Amino acid sequence: MNKPEAKQKIETLRKILSEHNYNYYVLSKPVISDFEYDMMMKELEKLEKEFPEFDDPNSPSKRVGSDISNDFKQVVHDYPMLSLGNTYNTGELKDFDKRIKNIIGNNTPVKYVCELKFDGTAISIKYLNGKLSQAVTRGDGTKGDDVTANVRTIKSIPLTLQNSGYPEKFEVRGEIIMPRKIFEQLNAEREKNGETPFANPRNAASGTLKLKYPREVAKRKLDAFIYYLLGEQLPSNSHFENLKKLKQWGFKTSEHTKLVNNIDEVFDFIEFWDKERHKLPYDIDGIVIKTDSLKLQAELGMTGKSPRWAISYKFKAENVATKLISIEYQVGRTGAITPVANLEPVQLAGTTVKRASLHNADIIEELDVREGDTVFVEKGGEIIPKITGVDISKRPEGLPKTKFPDKCPACGHKLVRNPDEAKHYCPDEYGCPPQIKGKIEHFVSRNAMDINCGEATINALYEAGFVENIADLYDLTYEQIYSLEGFKEKSAKNLLKSIEESKKIPFERVLFALGIRYAGNIAAKTLAKEFKNIENLQNADLEKLTATKEIGDKIAESIINFFKNEKNIEIINRLKKAGLQFAIKENTETKQDILKGAKIVISGTFKKHSRDELKKLIEQYGGKNQSSVSKNTDYFLAGEKVGPSKLEKVKKFNIKTISEDEFIKMINNNLN
Ligand code: IVH
Repeated sequence: MNKPEAKQKIETLRKILSEHNYNYYVLSKPVISDFEYDMMMKELEKLEKEFPEFDDPNSPSKRVGSDISNDFKQVVHDYPMLSLGNTYNTGELKDFDKRIKNIIGNNTPVKYVCELKFDGTAISIKYLNGKLSQAVTRGDGTKGDDVTANVRTIKSIPLTLQNSGYPEKFEVRGEIIMPRKIFEQLNAEREKNGETPFANPRNAASGTLKLKYPREVAKRKLDAFIYYLLGEQLPSNSHFENLKKLKQWGFKTSEHTKLVNNIDEVFDFIEFWDKERHKLPYDIDGIVIKTDSLKLQAELGMTGKSPRWAISYKFKAENVATKLISIEYQVGRTGAITPVANLEPVQLAGTTVKRASLHNADIIEELDVREGDTVFVEKGGEIIPKITGVDISKRPEGLPKTKFPDKCPACGHKLVRNPDEAKHYCPDEYGCPPQIKGKIEHFVSRNAMDINCGEATINALYEAGFVENIADLYDLTYEQIYSLEGFKEKSAKNLLKSIEESKKIPFERVLFALGIRYAGNIAAKTLAKEFKNIENLQNADLEKLTATKEIGDKIAESIINFFKNEKNIEIINRLKKAGLQFAIKENTETKQDILKGAKIVISGTFKKHSRDELKKLIEQYGGKNQSSVSKNTDYFLAGEKVGPSKLEKVKKFNIKTISEDEFIKMINNNLN
């Protein structure tokens, strides 16, 4: 295929794939099979690789996200991102309606647009000549973070617009959400991997949007609803009509948005959604009411940080009463004791609730909750509903006060409680079954040693007496595994292979896998980088530990206590003998140090590497990719056809320009 033919074909494929993407993710009505879609995508990807000169960040092939890390530069909003005044009662809505009528000075009914208030994270997206150009988070309302690369992976957000009639330049505002089902899958996965689950879909959505790697964002399946159009030349003076236009251009707007004629119809809308909201596949936390006329909006203006032309009505957290059957005390991986209430099953916010967390002894004391009480249960921002109070009038006579146990319910060891902590702990970490199993589960989890071994297998290995600690895993024999129920030749061999492969896992993950209290994967990474091997870490004193970036007293003390325990030392020695990595690999370290944080801007087209490849190299060798030239840029990596505005800045700030070849030499021979 020659160049013009390839260009034509690439453009056609991009157009067709965008349309199918829209059918699938915006309309939820696919018209071709996944297979046909995948085939076309493969063809496009192949051509784009062959003809990198036609690269386009808005190509549908870019939805999978790149593996170049974001640097989230701050961007000032062209129009501030306002918040809304909240109300929980309809009386205040009547006042809102009256206030508007007073200001405009007549008594004719005002048309309102009623919208769902999506419970996610706000986003502002700019479009230039029908193409997505920049996406920014709300931030403090005046300036936010540039999350363009991550937003490009959200399939219901158009990269290229459909139809025509859109202004050359405009901005949309909307909410990025995580549908409940995706949220539940994500949390199940996180728990399986020993990661902390997200408290609710809102936190999951905002956390995902700020992930460092767009490729990871793409996997999380975020969705977005657009509810606001801003710009100089808007198609209509009616907000409702503008929303219709947005839909025509390919945006996902809510099908539930309703134009109503007066405030009473607003109340009907609220009443309807207060009951029906749990049937939606995503969370909403209220209703937003906006005046339809943009002219009226301009007239009304704003107060402080919120507009006078819009208000939100928030739903009350649902609250039900049910009977508390019993309180159970769970022992976690770290030995922390969590009291959990078993409830008579009750319907709450669309799900059946049977259990609620009681958190700790103080909460039980404060609520004076007792087995046999009738309690109020509320679904707040947390996954597990909470008990908010006791209906004393329903308390049967003579119910005994709840006494927090003084012995571990799993192993019988005396519990301890540190003066500055709310939780009780079982200190017998190597004698308490849930702690033993929990430690092993954490050790094998995906972000740690990534050993293919689930909770049930760990339980079986423990019950059979084959493993009592993480080091025992490396002494397991084929016969032992094969003897377990459910294991066959192949599965037993696979488990052994997976254990063997874990010996290659880098030091930072081994350190995380050890399960030192408070040392999560970020702290483990920092510690591995700083101390380079386990001996240095073991010998470090409090002062040295806390001098490390991001390591506070709590983690430092926990590390010192960890190494004071003879049993831990014995286990580490056995793991060392088994061949696990207890030092960072020098060559990866030098690789990372070569560019020593140098800030590099890439511009133009290159002969030997794609821009993505160069960006990746910069990262790998410890440099930082910058998207625009500023006075603190260290190098300007220039290819052919560099933009004139960039060149101007390079000159102005006197920034060192290097060619592709010079760059490659630099990373091969070291900087100077
Ligand atoms: S309009 C000036 N419409 O609620 C009006 N906001 O407290 C700006 N939100 O930051 C917002 N659904 O994140 C609007 N249909 C909707 C909304 C909505 C959710 C969020 C948004 C905003 C916050 C306002």
